[in-house]
Amino acid sequence: MNCTLLTGDLANHATPCLVLGVFAQEPLTGAAAAMDRASSGQLAALWQKGDLSGDAGRTLLLYALPGVAAERILLIDFGKSAECTRAKYRKTLTAAIAALQQLHAGAAVLALPEQLPEGLDLYAAVRDVVTLAAAGTYRYTRTKTDKKAPKMPLTALALWLAADAEMRSAELALTHGTALAAGTQLAKELGNLPGNICTPTYLAEQALALAEQFAALTVDVLDAAAMAELGMNALLSVARGSRQPPKLIVLNYRGGAADAKPVVLVGKGLTFDAGGISLKPANEMDEMKYDMSGGASVLGVMQVACALQLPLNLIGVVPSSENLPDGDANKPGDVVTSMSGQTIEVLNTDAEGRLILCDALTYCQRFDPEVVIDVATLTGACVIALGKHATGLFSPDDALAAELLAAGDRAGDRAWRMPLWEDYQQQIDTNFADMANVGGREGGAITAACFLARFTKTYRWAHLDIAGVAWLSGKEKGSTGRPVGLLTQFLLNHCANGAG
Ligand code: BES
Ligand code: MN
Ligand code: ZN
Repeated sequence: MNCTLLTGDLANHATPCLVLGVFAQEPLTGAAAAMDRASSGQLAALWQKGDLSGDAGRTLLLYALPGVAAERILLIDFGKSAECTRAKYRKTLTAAIAALQQLHAGAAVLALPEQLPEGLDLYAAVRDVVTLAAAGTYRYTRTKTDKKAPKMPLTALALWLAADAEMRSAELALTHGTALAAGTQLAKELGNLPGNICTPTYLAEQALALAEQFAALTVDVLDAAAMAELGMNALLSVARGSRQPPKLIVLNYRGGAADAKPVVLVGKGLTFDAGGISLKPANEMDEMKYDMSGGASVLGVMQVACALQLPLNLIGVVPSSENLPDGDANKPGDVVTSMSGQTIEVLNTDAEGRLILCDALTYCQRFDPEVVIDVATLTGACVIALGKHATGLFSPDDALAAELLAAGDRAGDRAWRMPLWEDYQQQIDTNFADMANVGGREGGAITAACFLARFTKTYRWAHLDIAGVAWLSGKEKGSTGRPVGLLTQFLLNHCANGAG
């Protein structure tokens, strides 16, 4: 998908399709009003027939409008201007892209309605167009022989802007949006790949391939022997049940001052989670191929930082393993000693995410981090608490939590803060080790975060539970690439604040 910007005479611009954003129940304004003048009032005449009824996302296709060079005009209804929220705006754009995919157009010019939703500036509006166009045209084909592409998929979209004065912020939005779309797509593709292809070794290879592309990025892959040397017995205990060797993937991007402390992102890279001896039920178990989505989002964000040459130092750490039942697998009641020296009683082998993360989080101390953010499909309980709309955010640091919430709002990739109070800590006490890896059904997402908190005491830290948001199920089954948007925005804000 190639997105570009365009200004100037729209009526005389030849294109297979001109998409005009309108508020159908209101007088034509902006580009739509200009096309009406160019067609000597023909657009308004068609308009008055009332085929667009004010439902956001409805479209109407017109052919051969006199005075307008475009072969087709696709009117897209943004609903009522007063009610057009950010969410509605995004939904409507998604519908427009879907409609374009059905046409035999291939390329299009898009003119947004003159009035943007409240609180949405041009930068964010343009970035949304770029990322939603990429999302709407992404298709997973890697393991399909019948690739069933649309007859003429949309490959080029030019966004028309009324004034040259808007160009500067629009260009920045285009640059950011293009990089963000590519990083999100990387995360989606890795998420969607089946577990027999996307193994820990495969993830490590993808990280190494990224380092080939960008001079500022280096990648180190630690194998089981190196992890054993470091005492990462919690991580290794999970991997023992699998024939696939575990990997600790460490990505190091240096775009900031030599002495600037790095931002560190840690992503759960569990390439298939069967639960281990505490085996999961068969229903929907296939979706546990998505249990590496946190790791995939870290790779995606690293790619964005490299592509934009962000002025900061950024480290990605992806502990990667499978979790399978086996004669050598973790058993309920086993006690393992983590890299931190703290012992853990493995009461449920399906709570493996925290076991691989705790050693990765201890490993992060060596980077003297500015901040550490981990991203993990950690608990089904988080899905119950927040559904599939919000990432669960946990942090003992109010300022950091506020920054992450704001970044999510700005990016349209929202999180919601959950408590991390001491009160919950006692749920993971046990008679047989320093802590248990599960704390019962009550507040399951919180006790998982409490577990991680015991390994992150020496630096600023936040935990993102993306179990609900990382993929969609049912007919729309597929990775969302979240929270690459939130994390990218967090980094952009971090750089803008001169903290890079
Ligand atoms: N990867 C799962 C969490 C998960 C489950 C994400 C369903 C998305 C949908 C994680 O490893 C897990 O199995 N967690 C257990 C923890 C429990 C045993 C305390 C869970 O949530 O059931
Ligand atoms: Mn599990
Ligand atoms: Zn898991």
